[in-house]
Amino acid sequence: LDRYAVAGNPVAHSRSPSIHALFAAQTGQTLDYGRLLCPLDGFKATLTEFVQQGARGCNVTVPFKFEAFEMAARHTPRAVLAHAANTLRFDSEADGGWLADNTDGVGLVRDITANAGVPLQGRRVLLLGAGGASAGVLGPLIEQRPRELVLANRTVDKARALVERHQAWATQHGVALQARALTDAGEGFDVLINGTAASLGGGEVPVGAQALKPGSLALDMMYGPAAQPFLDWARAQGAMARDGLGMLVEQAAESFALWRGVRPDTRPVLAQLRAEVD
Ligand code: ATR
Repeated sequence: LDRYAVAGNPVAHSRSPSIHALFAAQTGQTLDYGRLLCPLDGFKATLTEFVQQGARGCNVTVPFKFEAFEMAARHTPRAVLAHAANTLRFDSEADGGWLADNTDGVGLVRDITANAGVPLQGRRVLLLGAGGASAGVLGPLIEQRPRELVLANRTVDKARALVERHQAWATQHGVALQARALTDAGEGFDVLINGTAASLGGGEVPVGAQALKPGSLALDMMYGPAAQPFLDWARAQGAMARDGLGMLVEQAAESFALWRGVRPDTRPVLAQLRAEVD
């Protein structure tokens, strides 16, 4: 039986095992997808043992996405831009060694463009936060060729560093990419994406309402209670509010496709998950 897992710390509440079980059933694939709790200083050792038990790949979550990227022998271009991996495929050394990918960004893009039906091309996009969550999605957002992409962060220097790393990619795609402070993020964006951890600490929505306009899409990469204040705030401004559940299912589908060579239909899976979460 081909084995997979979500590796992280913590992993107890991860939805990935149920998502991948639904994908496997739908595509007629036989596999086992579990949870792999890794000690903070034992990520590599835990994975090595998992591979010895016949594992073929894993998803990686907090706080190991950077370590996972560094451990791999090969990297997809989007993982290289992110400096982080959420997906590993344990290819043998003869086949080139472990492959690191990052499917978070393409998952977000698919959720916005396909599920929410909001095009990104030619639009003005504001991404809040310059941590791992934002780093993972910036490259694929640029590929959609928005007219303007502003990365706003409390600590401006972190936004500047991330923008600098993506500048060539942005120029290549004709995107005006800028770093700004949260307090000076700008006004009236078509799409606002929250990639900050502000809500986890019980913090306020990190940007002013002028960032939105009626009909904007406001998406929080989180889901469940952590996303609620942001969603309430966005709806109060007349924006279309969306949590991170669709992104979660879409990034999982991309990982599944990388491992199994078949892309599941995400719609019924997202509907089922939505019914469980709400
Ligand atoms: P992750 O990997 O989930 O992105 P992270 O690397 O710790 O986590 O980054 C968290 C992000 O949330 C950062 O952009 C952080 O801003 P700083 O870089 O200034 O620390 C942002 N963040 C956390 N709490 C916040 C708050 N109360 N208000 C605004 N931004 C906040």
